[in-house]
Amino acid sequence: MRSLIDIVDLSTDELDELIGVAMDIIEHPAKYSESCKGKKLATLFFEPSTRTRLSFEAAMYELGGNVLSVTGGATSSVAKGESVADTAKTVSCYADIIAMRHPKEGAALVAANNASIPVINAGDGGHCHPTQTLADLLTIFREKGHFDNLTVGFCGDLKFGRTVHSLINALSRYSGVRFVLISPEELKLPSYVKNETLKKYHLPYVQTTDLEGAIPSLDILYMTRVQRERFFNEEDYLRLRDTYILTPDKLRQAKQDLCIMHPLPRVNEISVSIDDDPRACYFKQVLNGKYMRMALILKLLKEAQA
Ligand code: CP
Repeated sequence: MRSLIDIVDLSTDELDELIGVAMDIIEHPAKYSESCKGKKLATLFFEPSTRTRLSFEAAMYELGGNVLSVTGGATSSVAKGESVADTAKTVSCYADIIAMRHPKEGAALVAANNASIPVINAGDGGHCHPTQTLADLLTIFREKGHFDNLTVGFCGDLKFGRTVHSLINALSRYSGVRFVLISPEELKLPSYVKNETLKKYHLPYVQTTDLEGAIPSLDILYMTRVQRERFFNEEDYLRLRDTYILTPDKLRQAKQDLCIMHPLPRVNEISVSIDDDPRACYFKQVLNGKYMRMALILKLLKEAQA
């Protein structure tokens, strides 16, 4: 049974295929309005979410399907101690596909190994968030028309930022991409991500703490939130949370066609005064996430039936 746990589960051809289907959905939504008639998506969210859960649910409704939903462990039998494995087996009796978010790394894989239906990882702790990467890729494609030869800056929490890890992996597959990694020392990109992507494919990258100095060279600036929920120590979080705040002033030397991205939720990292700048693409990412999740649901359900 095909599931999606990590962005590495999708080949580059499959990424391109999903982008193609999403673009077709955008152009011809009526063509897809009954594609999932009679099918049910179960959204199991054991960690907070606004965009991911609602966009999965909106995606399924727009495909003509239905949704079963668990939000927060307190309202399900997980509160009584039920395991992820038993939850996955149980939900397989009611639904055709699962989207699951869980605070523990590896939980989505456990669910996939025990479910008899496809499981989509909607975020497992600090590990992976592959459907955010699909949203990010569609956004870059719609803004730039290609992935090759872009200079992409990642700024903020590159240590715990699962969206950063997955997007670096995806972009590493395209030619001529250069990476600028902007973070405080304590929140640098983990060595394993560097080793498995940037170093493995001999991709050019620089690490810096200087956001303003990096901005003029960038085609894409991917801002991230310093995630309070990933810190063991509140003092460290408070010290690091406002290291980078993007303001109109800092954008003075930026390219006119810079694409400013953020997986959201935003706390302080991007001033709201940037929201009306045509280079701000973070709410476009939110919408693109729905289209890519529609394309993914279609693909996994089709493969499950084959
Ligand atoms: N980007 C993202 O995962 O947002 P939510 O936490 O609101 O789902």
